[in-house]
Amino acid sequence: MDFDKIIDRKNTNSYKWDKYPEGVLPLWVADMDFEVAEPIKDALSKIVEHGVIGYSRTPDELVEVVVKRLKDRHKWDIQKEWIVWLPGLVPGLHTAARCISDDYFSVMTSSPVYRPFLEASEMGNRRLQDIPFIWRNDRWEMDFEEMKKSLNPSTRLYMLCNPHNPNGRVFSKEELSQLADFCVENDLILCSDEIHCDLILDESKEHISIASLNKEIEVRSITLLAPSKTFNIAGLGCSLAIIPEKVLRDKFEKIKYGMMPMLSAFAMDAALAAYKNSEVWRLELLNYLRSNQAYLLKEINAIEGLKMEPLEATYLAWISYEGTGINDFVSHLESHGVGVQDASIFGGKGYFRLNFATQKSNLEEAIKRIRKSLNQ
Ligand SMILES: Cc1ncc(COP(=O)(O)O)c(C=O)c1O
Repeated sequence: MDFDKIIDRKNTNSYKWDKYPEGVLPLWVADMDFEVAEPIKDALSKIVEHGVIGYSRTPDELVEVVVKRLKDRHKWDIQKEWIVWLPGLVPGLHTAARCISDDYFSVMTSSPVYRPFLEASEMGNRRLQDIPFIWRNDRWEMDFEEMKKSLNPSTRLYMLCNPHNPNGRVFSKEELSQLADFCVENDLILCSDEIHCDLILDESKEHISIASLNKEIEVRSITLLAPSKTFNIAGLGCSLAIIPEKVLRDKFEKIKYGMMPMLSAFAMDAALAAYKNSEVWRLELLNYLRSNQAYLLKEINAIEGLKMEPLEATYLAWISYEGTGINDFVSHLESHGVGVQDASIFGGKGYFRLNFATQKSNLEEAIKRIRKSLNQ
């Protein structure tokens, strides 16, 4: 697999590449500029060759592969019936928020965080209780003291993003146990978005599914997963929720019923090819991303005014620009040919998010432009 190979994505209706005018390098939304693994291409070609594209059922083998994957990789024994298929993970976040009692109950989460976490409560007539992350022990941590203080009888759900977008944390067993206890003690449902779990960059870290910690947290959990980020098939829409407890699962199914399309053969066959036959590609991808991150860390931290901490997971660098003294740094970069996202989108400030899942030559060009924009 040649991750250095440039593929022209302009004028393909790419959400990422066709957003900006000519001359802006898009390093924003979380999709990767790499061709998918061969087994995924083969699976998609097979459907096209067959030529009939009707409704599809979920292949038994996909279910088996997911159950096995969770057992082998997450050390979590799940039952087939716990799986609810979704045409995207964001619909899962919104459905989870609507699972808690009636309108005006509260959803707790910690910002800065992937924007739909902030929107899911409001869109569903739930209230948002945002307890921001704090920088402590040289890492971003959940602020359990504030979370406890802010609890009130309306709090029903905590939404976790693990590994975290955008701060890149892979939460430790101790942190996850603390969060699980917090949810059990306070009778909260826990929704855990683990879409980035196969993109661990720090080899000393291990992804733990919070629901696998113990039965008490398992029965109050909604775990959201998808092959889309890791295998670059976000455009196909194949995600899943794992909901062990039947009453909660029935409620989730009922809310989504009739509101979401069935998954396509493209989505499910690509997911199967990804999970079953694309592991070599994934390992090569991780090496490439680790090398891109090392390059970015060295270059960004050599630029006066910018600061980047190593990510434990994801391909989304979280870079502080407070030292530059420039308020609207994202517009500043855009006018110098680099398209990134401001922390304000994630409920934060003073940072921008840069997607480094692109060819190294694009990153080199981005660094040149960022330097030039700051006269460095
Ligand atoms: C944490 C997280 N959840 C969900 C998604 C998107 O999921 P989907 O495209 O399946 O709705 C993203 C995309 O970047 C993400 O970072």
